[in-house]
Amino acid sequence: MALLPILTAPDPRLKAVSNPVAAVDDDLRRLMDDMLETMYDAPGVGLAAIQVGVAKRLLVIDTAGEGEARQPHFFVNPEILWVSEELALYNEGCLSVPEHYADVERPAEVRVRYLDYHGNPQEIHATGLLATCLQHEMDHLDGILFIDHISALKRGMILRKLKKAQRLGAVG
Ligand code: NI
Repeated sequence: MALLPILTAPDPRLKAVSNPVAAVDDDLRRLMDDMLETMYDAPGVGLAAIQVGVAKRLLVIDTAGEGEARQPHFFVNPEILWVSEELALYNEGCLSVPEHYADVERPAEVRVRYLDYHGNPQEIHATGLLATCLQHEMDHLDGILFIDHISALKRGMILRKLKKAQRLGAVG
């Protein structure tokens, strides 16, 4: 397994629409394993393949709390089948938008169809943090970041700070 570099906004690759995965094979499982290791190392609760520069419809998620046993989930070609009318507000962050957080309102529950680590079709009814995380990560597959859900003013401020931090990082 290997740690993969995580792209950060405003990297234009994060705006790409990812392509469906054609086959869940050993190469894809290697990528899934590397993404999981990268996510745990960061640390984060979710990671989409495009965040490591691979434009495939693939996510890894583990919302287990600190001190709880790990519960990795792999989602290949996830599709939303249903969302609740009830909404939930979470203070979201993203490994591609480091050190910035904002409240985002999304459906509180979702039903998602996907292929698992072995390529078997599955459905999940997600609630709580998992529901929010799934929607956040699925947004990445369509080139959408959580800051696209907040005001243009706040988004512009965050992107300017990220650009500045990257410039400083490049020289320092
Ligand atoms: Ni994210």
